[in-house]
Amino acid sequence: MPTLTQLPAWRALWKHFTRARDWSMRELFDTDPERAQRYWLEQDGLILDYSKNRLTDQTLTLLLQLAREAGVPELIEAMFRGDKINVTEDRAVLHVALRNHAGTPILVDGEDVMPKVNAVLDRMARFSRAVRSGDWVGYTNQPITDIVSIGIGGSDLGPLMVCEALKPYAHPRLAMHFVSNVDSSLLKETLKRVHPETTLFIIESKTFTTSETLTNAHTARDWFLSSTGGAGKVARHFVAVSTNRKAVADFGIDPAHMFEFWDWVGGRYSLWSAIGLPIMLCLGEENFHALLDGAHGMDTHFRTAPLETNMPVLLGLVGIWYINFFGGGSHVIAPYDQYLHRFPAFIQQLDMESNGKQSTRDGRPVDYETAPIIWGGTGINGQHAFFQLLHQGTHIAPIDLIASLDGRGSLPGHHEILLGNMFAQAEAFLRGKTLDEARAELRAAGLDAAAVRALAPFKVFDGNRPTNTLLLQRLDPRCLGALIALYEHKVFVQGAIWGLNSFDQWGVELGKQLAQTIVGELSGESVPVPHDSSTARLIALYRQKNLDGEPSVE
Ligand code: F6P
Repeated sequence: MPTLTQLPAWRALWKHFTRARDWSMRELFDTDPERAQRYWLEQDGLILDYSKNRLTDQTLTLLLQLAREAGVPELIEAMFRGDKINVTEDRAVLHVALRNHAGTPILVDGEDVMPKVNAVLDRMARFSRAVRSGDWVGYTNQPITDIVSIGIGGSDLGPLMVCEALKPYAHPRLAMHFVSNVDSSLLKETLKRVHPETTLFIIESKTFTTSETLTNAHTARDWFLSSTGGAGKVARHFVAVSTNRKAVADFGIDPAHMFEFWDWVGGRYSLWSAIGLPIMLCLGEENFHALLDGAHGMDTHFRTAPLETNMPVLLGLVGIWYINFFGGGSHVIAPYDQYLHRFPAFIQQLDMESNGKQSTRDGRPVDYETAPIIWGGTGINGQHAFFQLLHQGTHIAPIDLIASLDGRGSLPGHHEILLGNMFAQAEAFLRGKTLDEARAELRAAGLDAAAVRALAPFKVFDGNRPTNTLLLQRLDPRCLGALIALYEHKVFVQGAIWGLNSFDQWGVELGKQLAQTIVGELSGESVPVPHDSSTARLIALYRQKNLDGEPSVE
């Protein structure tokens, strides 16, 4: 099997790049009036305009050839078939089964997983109906008013992002709280705002061994028991979502109050599973199903559409063009929608934990770039902060600009300003401003020749900076489901081309192992073991500050 850099399309792309790197997007638009129409896709309530990129039909032909030579179509099929494509953990990758509303059988080890997926969805629905209606009461017979979700990483970011994004659909009585950080300030501040008699805690952890989550969960339970004088019934106030029944029981939650999912659901792909329980509680069963439906629509498109019109495939390939050829090592997610303010953080985990790798599936080191650094924030705020670098800095960072087309729920006059700015930014990134234009502008403003000469160079924008514009028909559960699935599959396509296993995360393990030792040293439970001199000094300093009788650090 040839490596990526040996593929004919890879080589052809490099040759093509020697010309493409000097292309000006202004010229590409001037010479090709059909461009915006051609590089435009509509699917499942999403519109993707990818015309403002430094590419032509030939670039796309070569990139699509690369996808074929790298085996992207075969890997897509293998995922949907339930093959164990997560090779280092010997697991299938089946978040698509969680939203398989077609109900067609999906087999793992010869067993159709759909009946158990549907059974858990039914249990979640029954529980949500009871909590939302007020039938599920706390130990003093009062309805639940506050839900505290305790989890971290994929067991936090997805539910948090979706509950924020779809706030207008939220249940009016239920306030949602998310606790992820083990820094006790977050839990402390959250507990100040809730009452033990009316609070439901959801402990969300795939493994139920994550120390941050378990520490927060133990502290929350202690708080609950002490503030109810021991009268509180844990069973009415604590439920768990996990794959680890034994650890849930050991923690003291009755497995009857555990919502199950399975090892073939990756943490960062788990919001569609029982990890989405906070979402269902907040938005209701119907909206949760609409979210799944939107994702299922995108799944069907991803599996069946030709590569040429396949939205996740094209988004992935355009990214590859910059990362591997132009050398753009970062990628910006800029939603022009306050409700989507947690979306960049969600995509950051999805992309960087999936494809931030340096070995291929067969264990060879890569000799090309893999995942970019994903960063961003709401676009309109970014314009007054980090966009300066995007316009005139020395990095090329492709940008995804994301917004809801429908402004009808917005306050009068706001949505035009929001989207007007987004479209203007995309135009500015494309056009830039030449020296001649800068001079003309300054002259028109009445500056004399010397001032024009002095100022004009600072007003020059190179432009030619790539953007994708992604519009949702409206920010509703269905379109959001499609949007999230679009990015999941984009990440899949890039990982497939780079030959990675996008579904493990061994890189996070070393820090966890070392932390276990160091936490014991900081608390005084174990004596310090040898470390490098910097780590040893930091540990000694902490002990000196926090443990009695420790000698001072010289
Ligand atoms: O440490 C990384 C990680 O394993 C993520 O992949 C995962 O989403 C997160 O921690 C939380 O894990 P768990 O759901 O098992 O608590």
